[in-house]
Amino acid sequence: MTQEAPRTAGEMLARAREFLLRKGTAEPRLEAELLVAHSLRLSRLQLFLRLDQPVVEAEVARARDLLVRRGQHEPVAYITGTREFYGRSFRVASAVLVPRPETELLIDLARERAKAQRCAARVADIGTGSGCIAITLALELAGSKVTAVDLSAAALEIARANAAALCASVEFVEGDGPESISSRAPFELLVSNPPYIAPQERASLAPDVREHEPALALFTPSGDPDHWLRRLCAAARTLLAPGGTLLVELGHRQSERALAVAREHGLEARAHKDFGGIERVLEARASPAPLSQTVVRDAT
Ligand SMILES: C[S@@+](CC[C@H](N)C(=O)[O-])C[C@H]1O[C@@H](n2cnc3c(N)ncnc32)[C@H](O)[C@@H]1O
Repeated sequence: MTQEAPRTAGEMLARAREFLLRKGTAEPRLEAELLVAHSLRLSRLQLFLRLDQPVVEAEVARARDLLVRRGQHEPVAYITGTREFYGRSFRVASAVLVPRPETELLIDLARERAKAQRCAARVADIGTGSGCIAITLALELAGSKVTAVDLSAAALEIARANAAALCASVEFVEGDGPESISSRAPFELLVSNPPYIAPQERASLAPDVREHEPALALFTPSGDPDHWLRRLCAAARTLLAPGGTLLVELGHRQSERALAVAREHGLEARAHKDFGGIERVLEARASPAPLSQTVVRDAT
């Protein structure tokens, strides 16, 4: 027996929740709200204020298409085309990693370190993807000069569109790793959220990630989990200004190796925990000055 089409936004929402629950997606309630709101061209808040609003056939069909895509584990951010990062909306598509909330710790640390330097920071972001780190730092650090690199031309196109939409001034460079911007050195801050998953771990990833996010953004080259750590620590020695700081996002259980690699390169190093208690960011510096304490996020 075929089910009658939903008549109101509220009925549509209830059906969407049931569907995503059956499909076993990560957060069926929230995802249903986001996708139904998107299909009705409403914000989530507007959706809740208009649950009695009648819906037309075209809107039901649009929602159905979006829900089927989510049922096939396509990330919600790719379906809606946007993701919030550090309070701003970034355009995303399948050429870029979906910005993650844990990466905001890297921004907090960069802000703290830039403030301590008491001069306008020159910043380099290696592997910029959507541009979320580079653009956020350009907007948060007054007077900063930000250069962002990616190997993917498709990712850079999205990053440039985000910079334009958010009125951020960032120099984007299509290049291979930190070496490609050595002519622009020195930098006070070298930041990166590099690919840090070993290709042999692919099968253990959630299907949303494994089947939809770009391999270039996820996996370390040639199966070496420390490829990017070594490369960034080596680059820090030549690209950083005296007293400058390297900040690198780390994968799960990577921090001990990260500290060892940084120290092998003659850098002072420490790791910072994220909200989940996971050592998430490596901070390293060439200067002998001791590294200061972990920053605490503003509660505002
Ligand atoms: C984990 S994603 C991070 C994206 C973004 N910075 C973020 O935090 O959401 C890593 C990025 O590094 C880029 N990448 C991979 N290999 C690279 C290379 N050899 N040189 C420059 N960028 C590279 C990928 O295209 C991807 O955009």
